[in-house]
Amino acid sequence: MTQDKATNVTWHDGDVTRADRFNRLGQKGVTLWFTGLSGSGKSTIAVAVEKALHKLGKLSYRLDGDNIRMGINKNLGFSAQDRTENIRRIGEISKLYCDTGIITLSSFISPYRADRKQVRNLHEEGGYNFIEVHVDCALACAEERDPKGLYKKARAGEIKNFTGIDDPYEAPEHAEITLHTDEMSLEEEVEIILNYLQEHRYLILYR
Ligand code: ADX
Repeated sequence: MTQDKATNVTWHDGDVTRADRFNRLGQKGVTLWFTGLSGSGKSTIAVAVEKALHKLGKLSYRLDGDNIRMGINKNLGFSAQDRTENIRRIGEISKLYCDTGIITLSSFISPYRADRKQVRNLHEEGGYNFIEVHVDCALACAEERDPKGLYKKARAGEIKNFTGIDDPYEAPEHAEITLHTDEMSLEEEVEIILNYLQEHRYLILYR
């Protein structure tokens, strides 16, 4: 639990509104939250979606578990408490990005339902949209891919609390989008996401 130590602070609004920013960019700020096992394909999909959006002239930005843990969250490990704080901070950052009008692609294992729910609530309370994308892949498949060799190390007992091995992953129950990455191609996955953004009018002028 984070203790609120900042007291006597007041929110300061600017004169440029959220709608002004969204219209300037010709898009609506939104968070696409990719959750799934390590090696499930979260980062690969986010990279491909970012590229596709760029081609369409849309501004997006990736927030990625490994990258963020090399900077702002380098003081956090993988205990349940640290993972919760990791997700809380990224939830706040994602919300700020949304407010700028950027299509935010956040890829984190985010194994706990309660943590993801908190990020969803944070967005919804602020009037921002949160799209949970379950990057669904059987553990056996993620383990076979093992792009960073971490499952091998976890099986050998060299890494403790590894998600899917000796640490839990709570799959979403009501994700807006589910991608079965052990059955679909990357092109299909990108198309599903772009179609969703188009159908829900995120890629047009804001009204
Ligand atoms: S989360 O659980 O707090 O959401 P996050 O997505 O930021 O995790 O980081 C996961 C990445 O950290 C993995 O892709 C992997 O490269 C690395 N990692 C190192 N140790 C662990 C661990 N014990 N469990 C899961 N991932 C780990």
